Amino acid sequence: MNQITVQYLTDFSYIIAIAFFILSLKWLSSPATARRGVLVGEIGAAIAVATTFFNPDLVRFKWILIALLIGVIVGIPLGLVHMTAVPQRTAMSHAFGAVAAALIGISEYYMRIPHINKFEMTEIAMEVIIGSLSFTGSLIAAGKLQEWLPQRPIVYKGQNFVSFTVLGLAVLSALVLIFNPVTPYVFPGMVIISLLFGVMLVTPIGGADMPTVIALLNSYVGLTAALLGFVLNSKVLVVAGALDGSSGFILAVIMCKAMNRSFTNVLFGAFGQLQVAAKGEAEERTVHSATPEEAAAILAASNTVLVVPGYGMAVAQAQHKVREMFDVLTKKGVDVKFGIHPVAGRMPGHMNVLLAEADVPYDKLVEMDDANSEMPQTDVALIIGANDVVNPAAKTDQSSPIYGMPIIEVTNARTVMVIKRSLNPGFAGIDNPLFYMDNTLMLFGDAKSFVSSMVKELSGGGE
Ligand code: TAP
Repeated sequence: MNQITVQYLTDFSYIIAIAFFILSLKWLSSPATARRGVLVGEIGAAIAVATTFFNPDLVRFKWILIALLIGVIVGIPLGLVHMTAVPQRTAMSHAFGAVAAALIGISEYYMRIPHINKFEMTEIAMEVIIGSLSFTGSLIAAGKLQEWLPQRPIVYKGQNFVSFTVLGLAVLSALVLIFNPVTPYVFPGMVIISLLFGVMLVTPIGGADMPTVIALLNSYVGLTAALLGFVLNSKVLVVAGALDGSSGFILAVIMCKAMNRSFTNVLFGAFGQLQVAAKGEAEERTVHSATPEEAAAILAASNTVLVVPGYGMAVAQAQHKVREMFDVLTKKGVDVKFGIHPVAGRMPGHMNVLLAEADVPYDKLVEMDDANSEMPQTDVALIIGANDVVNPAAKTDQSSPIYGMPIIEVTNARTVMVIKRSLNPGFAGIDNPLFYMDNTLMLFGDAKSFVSSMVKELSGGGE
């Protein structure tokens, strides 16, 4: 094959890979097609990587193969983490992507100086700044989600001024380099300042805003990859980076809307401060509780049941038992639906994934707004391991850190039943007045074993 044919084939393969990436994003936007989206995205990435091996500029493969091997050794166990650890794993993936892009930008700088023009220097400086800050920012986000670092926002007086000064220094270093690329110490200084800014960017953000931050960091990494595409003159990298960057940004906007937060609040606010309720206050209030037998009898006697799953269902891995409960209640003529809050669990679509895994029919899943409009006609709202997403304080208590966040308004159902192990708060660390309401029954226990006992009772096995 001559060089021109190889070039045509390479371009053609990259176009196929790009088409696969676009289809992947399209299919990822619905739970019904998401698996296909993941598969097509993976095939697209494999095509892009394989095509790169035919690049005539590649002459030595040894280091690439060593890097691939290391990637596989690190990547396989990371891919096998428990579903509940996926957000922090995603943050780690962003950190890896960002550091890889930043390192390539750094090596390009040292390979090209002193013969580097202003345009190239601008591209490299922007790419290295965003890549470096996304690297440390993503590491801090992963540490917070894994609870290795405190989830509460770490804030101090004049923080925004200090942070902007540090960012300003990074930009100033870039400007100096554009006019004199070999100014001593400025390039390494710019890298260090950008790394520091990444830490300063994420530490003031509280745990409850972390999902949005992860989506935002995703878009930064996409932007870094697109800039790297300009540096390396790689069209596939420009397009893939732009797709990643824009979809991450759109996701961040959706998450902000779902949590009723503005971007500036997420970036500069101190939302998510752990505000554990005064213990005494919680203990003084009366709670009504019920056994699995009593709860099963209430469910069997109802016409409409809305299940609201949350993080606790994921922890307990109760989704298959929940599906059995759905089957047995449906057989008894009860209309069972699932109300899905967009930030229930610990990652976007967490509940959809779990319920799909247990083959719960998609048409039984209702989005938050529809669930809320059906609530007054609902006999029982059965909450399984959810807490923040059903906390009425978001509607009624202006002093609550989650005030304004949309919730599934279960208090409008005739009876509310909540399966959880204790009265402990959820992710946002705040008390939930729902547990003390007159029409609420607390079903204390692990979600899987409690639902399992109810299924036994409903199937006649508990008699
Ligand atoms: P949470 O408010 O976190 O509440 C989960 C509840 O599950 C806890 O109160 C816990 O109570 C209970 N639980 C834990 N293990 C259980 C088990 N084995 N059996 C039964 N219950 C169990 O969950 P949510 O309502 O789904 O809200 C999600 C929260 O996470 C929101 O604050 C959201 O902002 C945040 N967040 C969301 C995401 C995304 S993108 N979805 C990402 C990060 C953070 P007990 O300890 O008493 O059992």
